[in-house]
Amino acid sequence: MTQRLLRGRLLTFHREPLNGEDTGAYTYLEDGALLIRDGIIQETGPFAEVSATSGDVPVTDHRPHLMMAGFIDTHIHFPQVQVIASWGAQLLDWLNNYTFPEETRFASYQHSALMARAFFDQLITHGTTTAVAYCSVHKNSADAFFTEATGRNMRMLGGKVLMDRNAPEDLQDTPQTGYDDTKALITDWHGKGRNGYVITPRFAITSTPEQMAMAQALTQEHPDCHIQTHLSENKDEIAFTKQLYPQARDYLDVYQSYGLLGQKTLLGHSIHLEPREIDALAETGAHPVFCPTSNLFLGSGLFDHEGLSARGISSGIATDVGAGTSYSMLQTLNEGYKILQLQGSALHPLQAFHWATRGNACVLGLEDKIGNLDPGTEADVVVLNARSTAAMALRMDRVGSLAEELFVLQMMGDDRAIEEVYVSGTPSKIAPEQTTWNGNVQIVL
Ligand code: GUN
Ligand code: ZN
Repeated sequence: MTQRLLRGRLLTFHREPLNGEDTGAYTYLEDGALLIRDGIIQETGPFAEVSATSGDVPVTDHRPHLMMAGFIDTHIHFPQVQVIASWGAQLLDWLNNYTFPEETRFASYQHSALMARAFFDQLITHGTTTAVAYCSVHKNSADAFFTEATGRNMRMLGGKVLMDRNAPEDLQDTPQTGYDDTKALITDWHGKGRNGYVITPRFAITSTPEQMAMAQALTQEHPDCHIQTHLSENKDEIAFTKQLYPQARDYLDVYQSYGLLGQKTLLGHSIHLEPREIDALAETGAHPVFCPTSNLFLGSGLFDHEGLSARGISSGIATDVGAGTSYSMLQTLNEGYKILQLQGSALHPLQAFHWATRGNACVLGLEDKIGNLDPGTEADVVVLNARSTAAMALRMDRVGSLAEELFVLQMMGDDRAIEEVYVSGTPSKIAPEQTTWNGNVQIVL
């Protein structure tokens, strides 16, 4: 039995804050504690109370830093770690010129395994303890992804993309091979350890109707798997989709007509939606996923968070690396704040931090396991330092409330603000010089 007691300022959410004054939505303790046993939180409360009953347990004192649930990234592309920051293109050219050529490398298991190490290093360094990832079309890439996740005991979701047209030939499967590989991956990885498989038709443009029908069969055969795809990110993408699926009422109807919409469905971007599509999201419980840094980087458009929320639609928030420009969920919240400002709404920092933790967990239906610090949940914890740079420390001298501190972290924080990361109760933050790619070592592939 492994036990540890973490001491620090503690913040955990019980529900989405209605506004900045909604103190019932969260617990904040100036001197808080988490008692962790074998990767599970046993007790959460004031340090004096938890330590009085916990016996002789080693204590790690993180004061004055802030402990909260590890960040959850609900949309990210594992094979794009070397695509991030590719210049000058919007979605379809960016895919054809940069992304597809890079993803062809993941045919190699060796390359996939190396990149998986680098990818997971980056997630942890940035405080992300759960991600929902797209792998490449190759079964190898998903095997490497889940092997690395298992080795680190992280709660990870992912799947190989299904794509059988409008891409280079060596990046295409067929309806049958895509189905067979997905079945084998589900058998090998879904529900094993902390892994979850996500059925992943990349998007309408790269799947034939025959492949969509196979995705539907997979969904019916594995109702406990999540589904992820892309929706209405870019106007040229929407026009091309309507050409490819002329019978569809709109873009979302391509997925809806193949039975792919439900509470386990994640729809990356969902920016340029028609009224019927919004009705269908509200009816089916499918979740849009807001990817702020990506939407700005590719010039895709502004996500209507307020409009969707008003319809009772709950959205995830995510990096979408490599179109996204940072692995940091803090920087993702920063750019998200600005996108909502452009539409006249100001996201409160308490709502922002709820979104990146418990909010994303709820979107995944995993709030009983991750996204908060309740007893019985898995001990994925991030420790945040709002004075991690000189500029932040300077600003923090004038900060007088938790909300103000959170906003400094959101606007100015990045991996330097991540003091420590616990994965299943094990300290896992990697010193920059120890990451797989650390600037000192050039790995020749
Ligand atoms: N649509 C289909 N594939 C992708 C991708 O890899 N990134 C983004 N941003 N959009 C996509
Ligand atoms: Zn994406």
